[in-house]
Order: sequence, then structure tokens, then C-alpha cells
Amino acid sequence: MSAEPTPIPADLPADFLADVDRTVSHYPVSMRSASLPLLHLWQERFGYISDPAVKWIANRLGLQPINVLELVTFYPMFRRHAVGKFHIRVCRTLSCALGGGYELFEILREQIGAQGDGHGVAVSPDGRFSIEFVECLAACGTAPVMMVNDDFYEQVNSPTKASEVLAHYKGKE
Ligand code: FES
Repeated sequence: MSAEPTPIPADLPADFLADVDRTVSHYPVSMRSASLPLLHLWQERFGYISDPAVKWIANRLGLQPINVLELVTFYPMFRRHAVGKFHIRVCRTLSCALGGGYELFEILREQIGAQGDGHGVAVSPDGRFSIEFVECLAACGTAPVMMVNDDFYEQVNSPTKASEVLAHYKGKE
């Protein structure tokens, strides 16, 4: 696991702990089956799954941290690092790569002022935006495609269109 200092809150919120207990209670036969639901719960609340979070969840379920970490690293929907308020995902699988996904990524990355080479998550200096590549978003016929949080955008095939998408979020609190 990385050495990044990513502590968990000293006192986890009572409502969160209640959610955890409720979720675990749904799996009386094997607490291990609660791993994915707990990871979702954690990410929804704290934004990403840090190393201490992996350990906390493993401990809660009576597992080894590696049992939880392997899920976090296998499923692309789980984030290991903090992201911005507006998290941009750009598809880089074949149709989108051919349709300009890599160029789109660079345009967006530059416009939010983030550093990075496309590996992992790049965050803007003010922390409001972040960007990362993802694999196929299942809209290959309208490449290149991107998402901002849960909003989906297709055929973002020009710098102007990319700027228009970003402008929508730059104006938001
Ligand atoms: S290749 Fe980009 S959505 Fe499928």
C-alpha cells in the first residue's frame, strides 16, 4: 500500500457507523460479503478509500487488509485518492482513443490547470477539479465521451465543446 498520509477521521460519525452496522447485518452467514457494500458506503461518505480505510474495513469484517485492498484495486469505480468537487473522467478505450479521447483529456487537464501525464488522478491547484482516464463508458458510437461526476457528455470532439462543458461547472459553487 502507498505511504500517503491519509488518516481516517478519529471519530467516525455515528450515523456512518450505524449504516455500517446495518449493512453488515445483512450478511449474517459471511461478513466478507459485506466488503463491497462497505467500500461503496465509505467512498460515498469520504470520497475515496485510503489505506487506513482499507484497514478499518478489514478489521470491521474480520478480514486481512489484502482481502479488501484487492477489491479496491480490481474495481475501477473505487478511488484511492481524493478527487475534486468536480471529477472528470475521459474514456480512453479504442473508439474514444481513435475519436480524440487523448486530445480531449489534454485540453481538459490544461484548462483545469492540473499537472499529470494521464496516470492516476490529476487535481487542479484549487482542488475543485480532478481528471482521470477511464475505460469504456459504453457509448462507443458517440466517441469521445467523458463524464463530470454523474453527468455524461458525448461527442466532445473539439476544444470548444470541451470548454463549454467545463464552463458549466466553473460557474457552480
Ligand atoms: S470506447 Fe469510449 S465509450 Fe466505449
